[in-house]
Amino acid sequence: MKSKFLLGLLMAVVVPTSLMAAQMGTYKYDDFKKPQKCGMCHKEIYQEWQQTLMSKSYTHKWDQVEYFQLALPHSKKLEKVAGVKAGCIACHGPLAFLSGDIPPKPASANTRANEGVSCDVCHSITGTTEKEPFNFSFIIKPGDVKNGPRKDAKSPFHGTRFSQFHKTAEFCATCHDEQSPYGPWVKSTYREWKEGPYSKEGVVCQDCHMHKAPGKSAMGGKERSDIAHHVFQGSHSPTKVAGAVDVAIYSSKKDLAPGETVNLKAVLFNGKVGHAIPSGSSEERMLWLEVVAIDANGKSYQIPVQPKGFKGEEYTIADSKAMTYQAIGEIMEIKDFKGLKRDGDIPDGARIFRKPFFDPKGRMTVCQWYTKDNSLVDYRIKPRETKIEKYVWQLPKGLPKGKLTIRANLFYAQVPSSIGKFFKLPESEYMPMLVNSAEMTLNVK
Ligand code: HEC
Ligand code: HEC
Ligand code: HEC
Ligand code: HEC
Ligand code: HEC
Repeated sequence: MKSKFLLGLLMAVVVPTSLMAAQMGTYKYDDFKKPQKCGMCHKEIYQEWQQTLMSKSYTHKWDQVEYFQLALPHSKKLEKVAGVKAGCIACHGPLAFLSGDIPPKPASANTRANEGVSCDVCHSITGTTEKEPFNFSFIIKPGDVKNGPRKDAKSPFHGTRFSQFHKTAEFCATCHDEQSPYGPWVKSTYREWKEGPYSKEGVVCQDCHMHKAPGKSAMGGKERSDIAHHVFQGSHSPTKVAGAVDVAIYSSKKDLAPGETVNLKAVLFNGKVGHAIPSGSSEERMLWLEVVAIDANGKSYQIPVQPKGFKGEEYTIADSKAMTYQAIGEIMEIKDFKGLKRDGDIPDGARIFRKPFFDPKGRMTVCQWYTKDNSLVDYRIKPRETKIEKYVWQLPKGLPKGKLTIRANLFYAQVPSSIGKFFKLPESEYMPMLVNSAEMTLNVK
């Protein structure tokens, strides 16, 4: 009894310090090696990492804009969100956070914050404080020993430690799930995966984002059958997004006359994404389906989706008159700011697969840290989910005889075009990327 009590006391003293989540200012920049150094021997992995967003997680334009023009000023104005001044950096520029360099200088100053999620960040991680991690709850111990997935790895440059943790989805979850200061989950890629079929089948994040191939991971390393490639491709890679969702289109009739009504059905299937699509920064990712008819003269007609009547559906049907994102104007102190177009340039009536986030004043927002509620509706496409959209279209009276092409295009964009244009982001951030399309021809009599 007594020894149990003593043990408990000991644990209470010892455990919290040895199992401490990453904390601001506990290390120095110099405690971490530069990625170039690792790249001297790990050439291929270094090349791969350089192309990923991990290496740009601090310097990338939209990240700089959102932190310096929105989150940082907001953190000084509103006590409730004061923590994001350091919090954003804990995931996007971990070296700056761990070194207490908060706020870091902008990317143009070229400090070591710019290294982003570097080799030595991930390979100094030893575990997490949480069972289901989120908000940078990783435990990190920089030093000579690198944590990796092999029991038999030997390096002339550094010590190695086998880390089962690096092979789990929980490792990724430390940065990929996020809770806002108001409570809701504002990033939940891990939680979506966990609820879905892939976690039950033992398919982890690494299987789809760090695929294995034969080779060597280092100069002087062993030839192995399954080297982990550091590709980390996501929604910024058109090739990863292409084909991620299957699209099919069906019609109730083949031969029609002008004035007649046709019933169309689009069927979408998420057979490739291990979590919802969109995931991650769901507050701003746009995935939408446009169904168009193109007549024999090449003229096209947008066909609006048939509403289903579920709660919050109005946020999932494009409406060029809907204005929102007013918080941007408040944070940036822009006088008479009316907001920006909620859906950018998406044509009216297109179905948007999204999960809208709302600020404390009830307006839709892209400020995930200023999100009070996002439980109204989740109309994203879950892993292995099928979504069916219906269309009822009366053929215009003057439609020319001949071929009538019906096309369903599923598009993706990182941010609504209204936001992209407002902040002058590179066009690639908001131009529609084609995910998939389906086509069929009808005959106008
Ligand atoms: C002088 C060459 C050299 C340098 C520099 C180097 N490594 Fe290594 N590293 C190796 C070799 C060799 C291995 C063993 C590979 C094997 O066993 O297949 C290795 C293995 C690893 C492993 C795998 C451990 C495991 O359990 O699978 C990790 C992780 C790693 N290095 C990270 C790093 C990081 C991070 C840096 C930079 C801070 C770095 N390395 C710098 C040569 C180097
Ligand atoms: C976002 C975190 C992350 C970053 C950044 C990262 N790694 Fe890794 N690395 C991992 C994980 C996770 C694994 C294990 C994957 C697995 O086995 O499924 C791994 C595996 C490795 C391995 C062992 C490969 C093998 O299969 O034997 C080496 C070596 C390595 N990383 C070196 C590096 C170097 C060098 C860099 C920087 C250029 C780097 N890593 C950047 C997470 C990361
Ligand atoms: C230390 C924090 C950290 C860890 C650990 C981490 N990531 Fe990331 N990851 C990030 C950040 C930050 C970004 C966003 C970069 C940006 O958009 O600026 C990112 C981006 C990505 C992207 C690119 C998404 C896109 O939109 O193209 C993928 C894919 C990804 N991570 C997968 C993983 C996987 C898989 C793991 C686990 C093996 C992992 N990450 C572990 C911080 C982390
Ligand atoms: C079965 C394969 C699969 C699994 C498992 C998987 N992913 Fe993905 N992931 C994808 C595909 C395909 C995409 C590209 C389509 C998209 O953007 O959703 C993607 C996209 C992403 C993105 C970009 C999301 C966005 O909308 O910006 C992130 C971040 C990401 N994955 C992280 C993870 C993490 C973390 C895990 C584990 C918890 C994971 N993935 C598990 C296949 C997978
Ligand atoms: C728990 C870790 C974490 C925290 C905290 C965090 N982020 Fe992120 N952030 C990520 C990850 C991971 C992604 C990539 C998700 C995806 O690809 O969809 C991301 C994506 C982004 C993007 C989208 C980048 C793009 O290319 O479209 C922006 C902008 C961003 N974060 C800014 C911020 C700001 C500003 C804060 C603070 C208010 C913040 N983040 C806090 C992990 C985090």
